[in-house]
Amino acid sequence: MIIKFQATAVIPKFVFAHFLVGNAAGLTQEQWESEIKLAKHSLLDGFALNIGQQDTNTDQILQKAYAAADAVGNFSLFLSFDYQSGGPWPANKVVHAINKYKALPAQFYYYGRPLVSTFEGVSNIEDWPSIRNKTDCFVIPDWTSLGVQLFAEVRHNVDGFFSWDAWPAGADDKTLHSDEAWANVTNGKPYMMPVSPWFYTNLPQWNKNWLWKGAQLWTYRWEQIYRFQPDLVQVISWNDYGESHYIGPIHADGIPQGAARYVEDNHHDAWRELLPYYIASYKLGDRSKIRVTKDTLVYWYRPNPNNSGSNGGTTGNCPQQGQQEMDPASLAEDKIYIAALIKEPSWLMVQIGSNNSITTLFASQIGMNTFEVPFNGQTGNTTFSIVRNRTEVAYATGPAITTNCTNGVINWNAVVGSS
Ligand SMILES: *[C@@H]1O[C@H](CO)[C@@H](O)[C@H](O)[C@H]1NC(C)=O
Ligand SMILES: *[C@@H]1O[C@H](CO)[C@@H](O)[C@H](O)[C@H]1NC(C)=O
Ligand SMILES: *[C@@H]1O[C@H](CO)[C@@H](O)[C@H](O)[C@H]1NC(C)=O
Ligand SMILES: *[C@@H]1O[C@H](CO)[C@@H](O)[C@H](O)[C@H]1NC(C)=O
Ligand SMILES: *[C@@H]1O[C@H](CO)[C@@H](O)[C@H](O)[C@H]1NC(C)=O
Ligand SMILES: *[C@@H]1O[C@H](CO)[C@@H](O)[C@H](O)[C@H]1NC(C)=O
Ligand SMILES: *[C@@H]1O[C@H](CO)[C@@H](O)[C@H](O)[C@H]1NC(C)=O
Ligand SMILES: *[C@@H]1O[C@H](CO)[C@@H](O)[C@H](O)[C@H]1NC(C)=O
Repeated sequence: MIIKFQATAVIPKFVFAHFLVGNAAGLTQEQWESEIKLAKHSLLDGFALNIGQQDTNTDQILQKAYAAADAVGNFSLFLSFDYQSGGPWPANKVVHAINKYKALPAQFYYYGRPLVSTFEGVSNIEDWPSIRNKTDCFVIPDWTSLGVQLFAEVRHNVDGFFSWDAWPAGADDKTLHSDEAWANVTNGKPYMMPVSPWFYTNLPQWNKNWLWKGAQLWTYRWEQIYRFQPDLVQVISWNDYGESHYIGPIHADGIPQGAARYVEDNHHDAWRELLPYYIASYKLGDRSKIRVTKDTLVYWYRPNPNNSGSNGGTTGNCPQQGQQEMDPASLAEDKIYIAALIKEPSWLMVQIGSNNSITTLFASQIGMNTFEVPFNGQTGNTTFSIVRNRTEVAYATGPAITTNCTNGVINWNAVVGSS
């Protein structure tokens, strides 16, 4: 753990990560326990378990998950019914699943009721009064495609709202605007705010091939969470490899067909190292109570410059969702992004390619400091260090930035590492 803090009161705020059960069919219970320990180590409270109604493995996977969470202890789970992959859930199956798992010790209860969420499902809104009646669940759906105005007309059917709107459209950064709008329209019911570190998908079998601007999303969205103080937070995602926003370990047998090219060597685990700081900041609402106990530098970048090969037919933005199609290169800037958590003001040294000049940056804030270092046409392995009083206190190396793209196609996913 890289931070220390003292919780002064019982804090009714929770942070979950979205977990695709369909990508975890191969996990043993021991592997589930290991995932859960990693998540707990990051101060996550639990997983939102995304389940599709056609997936015949679901029950045996959920049994392992609930048993593992119980065995590890103090880690919660709840069901998130996916109405898109596999199609809409029949109401009786939803009732059955909630009632089956709500009795298990790892089930997350919110205001005394088993929490349930969704991914979409806007054609099945009228199912929920009866589902609630038969399960006594606390439902916080993601019906983002409905829009704020239409949600206002159906909010009496549910207990809160979860927004899936975690990425910026176009070249601007994401603001709090959509979160404010959703939090307003819940009319006093809890709002679950999304945070995601990245977005790139290229899965032709599902007609998906676009990216959104990622850049410093992981750092500034957590800053927004700290300021906005939503009731709940959900990280998108723990293991959605196909959309490149996983923060959990890569399990090769969970990677969807066609995505291994941009997932296999693109580890994201180091993003989790920032979570204890971000989650403690959010829950305490006062960063001055947090003490950094270990200097830590986390970096991320794309391994290929934005003009170094074919763009793979990837669009910037998602035209199928009505967004303006853009050149992906215009949204994927050639930069290294850095987050440094430091005990005392320090210097950061960054080098791309062992023969190139070193960029020196001053991290003036005790706590979190963020930087962007342009590639400037340089390629090669990267090195990073934190230096204080002429002593190197942390060091990291990263994989090469290269114009030699695998099969000539640019990899738009990020590589992430840390000291
Ligand atoms: C769970 O949390 C409680 C309260 O913080 C603590 O007393 C207990 O030891 C924890 N149990 C496990 C298994 O970590
Ligand atoms: C909820 O249950 C009560 C009592 O069983 C019943 O009278 C009512 O019609 C039910 N409401 C819905 C929406 O299912
Ligand atoms: C949300 O409500 C606040 C307070 O009423 C208001 O100031 C703000 O403009 C609203 N924001 C949005 C995006 O609707
Ligand atoms: C590629 O990234 C560089 C550096 O961030 C940026 O200047 C350039 O505009 C990007 N390319 C395109 C086509 O936008
Ligand atoms: C760095 O320069 C030396 C001397 O010119 C050369 O031998 C070496 O290959 C270069 N290394 C890289 C990574 O370009
Ligand atoms: C980058 O580092 C790797 C691992 O240390 C090494 O095998 C490789 O030669 C390096 N590449 C360059 C361009 O220096
Ligand atoms: C460097 O060392 C001095 C004296 O040991 C200390 O007062 C100062 O805070 C240190 N500076 C940094 C940036 O750590
Ligand atoms: C490019 O990468 C391929 C394997 O990915 C390798 O065989 C080839 O030598 C590389 N070319 C250059 C110029 O580094």
